[in-house]
Amino acid sequence: MQRIKPLMDHFVVRGERYIMRVDFNVPLKDGKVFDDTRIKKSLPAIKHLIDKGAIVILLSHLGRPKGKVKPEFSLRPVASHLSVLLQQEVFFIPFTEDKEILHEYIKDVLPGSVVMLENVRFYPGETQGDDNLAEMWASLADFYVNEAFGVSHRKHTSVYHLPLKFPVDKRFAGPLLLKEIEAGRELLEGTSRPYVVIAGGAKISDKVKLLEKLLSEADKVLIGGAMATCFLKAKGLNVGKSFFEEEAVNLAEQLLKEYEDKIVLPVDVVITLPNNNISEVAVSNVPDEGSIMDIGHRTVEVWRPYLLSAQRIFWNGPVGVFEEEPFSNGTKSICDIIAQAHQEQGTFVVVGGGDTAAAANKFSIKDKVSHVSTGGGAMLKLLEAGTLPGIEALSK
Ligand code: ADP
Ligand code: 3PG
Ligand code: MG
Repeated sequence: MQRIKPLMDHFVVRGERYIMRVDFNVPLKDGKVFDDTRIKKSLPAIKHLIDKGAIVILLSHLGRPKGKVKPEFSLRPVASHLSVLLQQEVFFIPFTEDKEILHEYIKDVLPGSVVMLENVRFYPGETQGDDNLAEMWASLADFYVNEAFGVSHRKHTSVYHLPLKFPVDKRFAGPLLLKEIEAGRELLEGTSRPYVVIAGGAKISDKVKLLEKLLSEADKVLIGGAMATCFLKAKGLNVGKSFFEEEAVNLAEQLLKEYEDKIVLPVDVVITLPNNNISEVAVSNVPDEGSIMDIGHRTVEVWRPYLLSAQRIFWNGPVGVFEEEPFSNGTKSICDIIAQAHQEQGTFVVVGGGDTAAAANKFSIKDKVSHVSTGGGAMLKLLEAGTLPGIEALSK
C-alpha cells in the first residue's frame, strides 16, 4: 500500500480551510439520528482541526437519492446532531449548484467553525466523477481530508476526483481511515497464525470472490449463515426450503475440492418448519420442509477451539438470522468467543460488514475486540483488492 499522509501529523494553521469527506450515512428514525457510531468516530479528526482554529467543511452522503434533491435524505438532522456532540454550532448549507452562492455562504465563517454541505448525492455528478463538481468543492478549501472509510470503495467525485484537485501534499488521511486501513493491512499482511476467518451472512454472490481469497490466506474458514447452506447443498446434503443462492453452489463445490482441509462447515443447524416448530438437527437430517436459520450448539462447540487458539480472526457475516431471538444463539456465541479470544489471549480480532457490526453492537462486544469496521462493503473490498479508490486518490 502506498504512503499516505496522516492528518494528525500535519501542522495546522489558524484560519486554514479543510474540506473533509466523512461517511455520515447513518440510520435516521423520526427525523433524528438513530445510531451515531460513524459520527462519533470522526469527531477526533474534526476536533483536531477546529481546536487549532481551522475551518472544517464537511461533505457526506446519506442514503441513495440518485442525483435528486429528496428532503428525506437531507443531512440537516445530522448537522444538528453533530452540533450537539461538538457543543458548537454546525453551519448547514442548503443544496446549491451555484459556486458563487456557495462561496457567499462560507466567506465570513470564523476560524474554528464547522460547516456542513447538503448531501453530496443530491448532485447527479457525485457518482459520475464530474470534474466541474470536483472543481466547485475544491475551490472552497486549502486542504482535503478523507475520513470516510465506509465509502472509500466507491470511485465517486467527493472520494476520488476531488482529492486529485489538491496538490498531493495537501491531501490527508483522517485517523479513522488510517485505523481501518491498518486493521485491513494486519489481516492481509500479518504473519501471526493460526489465522481464522468466520464467513456467513446472506449476500453470497457478492462475497464468493473474497471468500476464495480468504481461503487461500487463512488457516481455517468457518462457514455459517446462508453461505453455509450453499456448501451443504454442494456436498449433496438436503437443505429443505432454506435460503441460498443456486449460482453459488457450483463455486462452493469447487472451493470444497480445492480447500477441503481449510473449510469448516456446521455439523448441526437450527431449523424452522412450516408449523413454526423450531428444532436442532444434524446437517444430514434437514427435512424437506425445514429451513436452516442458525448454526447449532454442537457446531459452536466444534468451532470454539479453532477460535480460542487463533492469533488473527476476521469475521464477516452473521451465522444465523440473529435479528430473531430463536436464531441468535450462533451469532451471539461467536461474539462471546471472539471477545474472549481477544481479551484473554490478545488475539487480533476484526469484525466487518454492516449486519455483522450490528450484531457486534447488539451483543455488546464492540469494545472487546481489536476493531469493528465502520465500513461494510469497504472492508470487504479492501481485503479483496488490497486498496481502495479513496485511498489511492490520497497519494496518486
Ligand atoms: P454483512 O452486512 O455483515 O456483510 P450480509 O448482508 O451478507 O452480512 O448478511 C446479513 C444477513 O444474513 C442478516 O440479516 C441475517 O439475518 C442473514 N442470515 C444469516 N444466516 C442466514 C440464514 N441461514 N438464512 C437466511 N439469512 C441468514
Ligand atoms: C455504507 O453505508 O456502507 C456506506 O456509507 C456506503 O454507502 P453506499 O453503499 O450507498 O455507497
Ligand atoms: Mg448486510
